[in-house]
Amino acid sequence: MKFTVKAGSLLQQETPCLVLGVFAEEFIGEALSHIDQLVGGAFKRATSSGEFSGRNGETLLLHAGSDATVERVLLVGLGKQAAFTLRALRQVSSSATKLLREKQLDHFLLALPQITFNETPCSERFQAIAEGVLLADYRYDRYLSVAEPGRPVSLSKVELLLSDEGDAPLAIAAIATAKAIVDGVCFARDLVNAPGNLKTPEYLAMQAVAMAEQVGISATLLDRKEMERQGFGALLGVAQGSAQAPYLIVLEYRGGIPAAPPIALVGKGVTFDAGGISLKPAEKMDEMKMDMGGAAAVLGTMQAAAQLKLPLNLVAVVPAVENMPSGTAIRPGDILTSLSGKTIEVMNTDAEGRLILADALTYVGRFEPKIVIDLATLTGACIIALGNQAAAALGNDDDLLQQLLQAGERSGERFWQMPLWDEYSEQIKSNFADVKNTGGRAAGTITAAAFLQKFAADYNWAHLDIAGMAWEEQGKAGQPKGGTGFGVRALIEYLRKTSS
Ligand code: BES
Ligand code: MN
Ligand code: ZN
Repeated sequence: MKFTVKAGSLLQQETPCLVLGVFAEEFIGEALSHIDQLVGGAFKRATSSGEFSGRNGETLLLHAGSDATVERVLLVGLGKQAAFTLRALRQVSSSATKLLREKQLDHFLLALPQITFNETPCSERFQAIAEGVLLADYRYDRYLSVAEPGRPVSLSKVELLLSDEGDAPLAIAAIATAKAIVDGVCFARDLVNAPGNLKTPEYLAMQAVAMAEQVGISATLLDRKEMERQGFGALLGVAQGSAQAPYLIVLEYRGGIPAAPPIALVGKGVTFDAGGISLKPAEKMDEMKMDMGGAAAVLGTMQAAAQLKLPLNLVAVVPAVENMPSGTAIRPGDILTSLSGKTIEVMNTDAEGRLILADALTYVGRFEPKIVIDLATLTGACIIALGNQAAAALGNDDDLLQQLLQAGERSGERFWQMPLWDEYSEQIKSNFADVKNTGGRAAGTITAAAFLQKFAADYNWAHLDIAGMAWEEQGKAGQPKGGTGFGVRALIEYLRKTSS
């Protein structure tokens, strides 16, 4: 898919479809009455009949008269200008793209760059528009053996119509930024969507190595033998029930000054979570191929950061395992000795994410990171608390959490902070070991974080529970059913802000 930018009059464009944003309070202004002429007065009729009022999310597709160079006009409602946001702009761009792809149009012209609101800088607006298009042009179809008739077309070309020719260089840069970020998102989506029989821990490791090679960053794998030697008892405990070999994937990107301590990203990489001996129910177990959503987000972020040449140092650590029941699997009641030396009583083998993260969080300390951020599809409790609208954010550094929350809001990937008071640790005290891996039903997301905190002791740390966000069940405009790549956009936004 190619983007081009241009400027010029709305009325003289040659395109299968001109996409125009309309604020609720604005119609019918001067520009719109010109547009109305193109469509033979159909716009005015639609507004006076109440079919279109500029409400956010509304769309109206009209065909132009035969003498017009524009074949169609798609009007998209924006709602009230004062309430409009980057998040809304990205969504509008995605909805228009989805609608036109379904109409089999593979190229069109977006006049959305001309929308201004609340003094938002144009580079941010252009980036959001391009992201909206690219996010809506995704589909995972590699296992479809026959093309369904009438399925949405893939885009060939999208033109952006600027109000000022002078903004072209900014627009081109913003598009390149969006492209790098969404490539990272789609890499993550592909990984999440891949089925568990293909996507073994080894496959995840190979994908990470291939990506690292492609963008020129270094990759190291620790295999089972090496992890045994070093004492990754918690990670290996989870892996021992599976026929698939575990890996610890370590990537390093050095875009900053050599002496600068890295920011570390840690991602839960359970390629399939059957629950182990504490077996999950059959219903929706298929979705547990997404239990490496944190790993996917971390790998996608590394790819995008390298592509954007961000001026900072990054290290990514991904523990990759499969959680299966078998005769060699860990049992409830087993005690594991983690890499940190702390012992863990396994109350429930389905609380495996925190076990592998415990060792990953210990390991990442070796890099003396400035900050550690982990992402994990960690708890069902997080979905009960926040649904599919936000990930939970917890940690030991309120500044960092605030910055992540803000980056989340700007990028359109939301986080909501939960408390991590000492008192919650009472729930994970064990009779027989230093800590146990479950804390009961109450505050499940928090007690999982409290568990992780015991292994994230020596650095500034944030934990993002993305259980409700890594997988989309319904399908939305910028987000088809399946893996979302959630986290890449927010992390990149955070990294760009901290490095500027
Ligand atoms: N991967 C799951 C959490 C999950 C559930 C993610 C649904 C996405 C959708 C995790 O490993 C898990 O099974 N957690 C248990 C923990 C419990 C046993 C303490 C849970 O949330 O039920
Ligand atoms: Mn589990
Ligand atoms: Zn899990």
